[in-house]
Amino acid sequence: MSQASPVTNQRKADYVIDSQFTERWSPRAYTGEIISEEEVMKMLEAARWAPSSNNAQPWRFVIVLRQDPEWDALFETLNPVNQVWAHKASALVAIASYQLAAKAGSPDLVANGMHAFDTGAAWAYMAMQAHLHGWSLHGIGGFNKEAGAQVLKMPADHSLQMLAAVGKRGDAAQLPDALKEREAPNARKPLSALAKRGSF
Ligand SMILES: Cc1cc2nc3c(=O)[nH]c(=O)nc-3n(C[C@H](O)[C@H](O)[C@H](O)COP(=O)(O)O)c2cc1C
Repeated sequence: MSQASPVTNQRKADYVIDSQFTERWSPRAYTGEIISEEEVMKMLEAARWAPSSNNAQPWRFVIVLRQDPEWDALFETLNPVNQVWAHKASALVAIASYQLAAKAGSPDLVANGMHAFDTGAAWAYMAMQAHLHGWSLHGIGGFNKEAGAQVLKMPADHSLQMLAAVGKRGDAAQLPDALKEREAPNARKPLSALAKRGSF
């Protein structure tokens, strides 16, 4: 199994925060080792506790481990640029959102305008929990969503948001040169460019 190559983390927070936020990053070099369903469930347990509008909890997950029969078909939906590295992931977790929510005090379902936003919060919780347990996640939006929805038999009232590649960090030497150079924690815009007081 490939050893994780050393990386230099040059991230500097503008304000003092817990280091877990700057130490989590999305590698592309994975070891290809097997992960248990239980390990992935621990990440999803964290996601479960994310906040959501009206506590609707619109996030939905489908776990596909690399040894599962669905792996090849789901992997095929990835854009080639993502296939070159994701083939060594231990799992792909499909992150979807349920578009409807119960109407207060009624059995009716209504459109939940916050389903995508809230599911993003759940993904972030999942990624942080994975990091705290020594696993790495890498979001993949570059895939054929229609084909992915078919492979996963996703109901029509759900939206497929993203796949998360899950794995243990491996040796960057296995990556194509262009990706090798990017295999380190990346930077962020300054907070002053993103947060204003009073108005935009
Ligand atoms: C919704 C979403 C879609 C993404 N899609 C891709 C993708 O298709 N391919 C890829 O290599 N990285 C993808 N990423 C990873 C981002 O490029 C990465 O999270 C971003 O550069 C920040 O880096 P960090 O996660 O290491 O902090 C995606 C991330 C998110 C959240």
